[in-house]
Amino acid sequence: MNESTDKPGTTHFGFRDVPVAEKQKLVGEVFSSVAGNYDLMNDLMSLGIHRVWKRYFVATAQVGKGDRVLDLAGGTGDIAALLKDRVGPEGELVLGDINGDMLRVGRDRMTDRGNVRGFEYVQCNAQALPFPDASFDLVTIAFGLRNVTDKDAALAEMLRVLKVGGQARVLEFSEVKADWFKPLYDFHSFKVLPRLGRLFAHDADSYQYLAESIRKHPPQDELKAMMEAAGFERCDYRNLSGGIVAIHTGYKV
Ligand SMILES: C[S@@+](CC[C@H](N)C(=O)[O-])C[C@H]1O[C@@H](n2cnc3c(N)ncnc32)[C@H](O)[C@@H]1O
Repeated sequence: MNESTDKPGTTHFGFRDVPVAEKQKLVGEVFSSVAGNYDLMNDLMSLGIHRVWKRYFVATAQVGKGDRVLDLAGGTGDIAALLKDRVGPEGELVLGDINGDMLRVGRDRMTDRGNVRGFEYVQCNAQALPFPDASFDLVTIAFGLRNVTDKDAALAEMLRVLKVGGQARVLEFSEVKADWFKPLYDFHSFKVLPRLGRLFAHDADSYQYLAESIRKHPPQDELKAMMEAAGFERCDYRNLSGGIVAIHTGYKV
């Protein structure tokens, strides 16, 4: 699904309708612009809570020592760094991202922390993965699927590269459940985030896109149905922080 809009041949880029062929370039500009400040901004915007979500996402993954894992849209490497403990020294982690600037920051951070052996960095589009069928025990994507133009294609690719018995995990912003919290969350998203972006990253637009893209992302049940339609089995999800984010899981059988 290209998140098609009322106008044929267009898709969402935040709240704007843009030609399908343009979205990838626009998303690329956002992440090239934010790459240098990405980690600081994540801490500021979420008051550090993104670290808890990511830890939980990795701690509850179906993965073991020696496994081969693909972290898609891996960006600056938070998920891959956490996964390293789960797969151990004999495991392999492939960090895939479409954006060379984000991958470079990720590789530098990882190298600075001494995470070198067992890591591979691949610049790739989640919609067309350059890996053979059945080559990973686990495939993860954290805060990435929202930015992909054709989410169905990305889910199909995740399924294709998984081994039978393997798990796919999606960590993504989702739909807040408590009505009383929605106005506060909207205020934070549309008033606070762009200001933080302007102040600390000199870039309000990218953080406005972030808030808008979250609202356009399929909510919990819709994403679960998309995973089922892609061919995943035993699909399920778990809300964290009242649905601010959700973890979706599916298996290849
Ligand atoms: C919000 S960042 C998430 C980074 C990291 N996973 C994390 O949780 O901190 C989104 C990432 O998705 C990447 N991305 C966007 N579209 C993509 C695509 N079609 N294929 C692969 N990566 C993509 C961006 O380049 C960016 O690094």
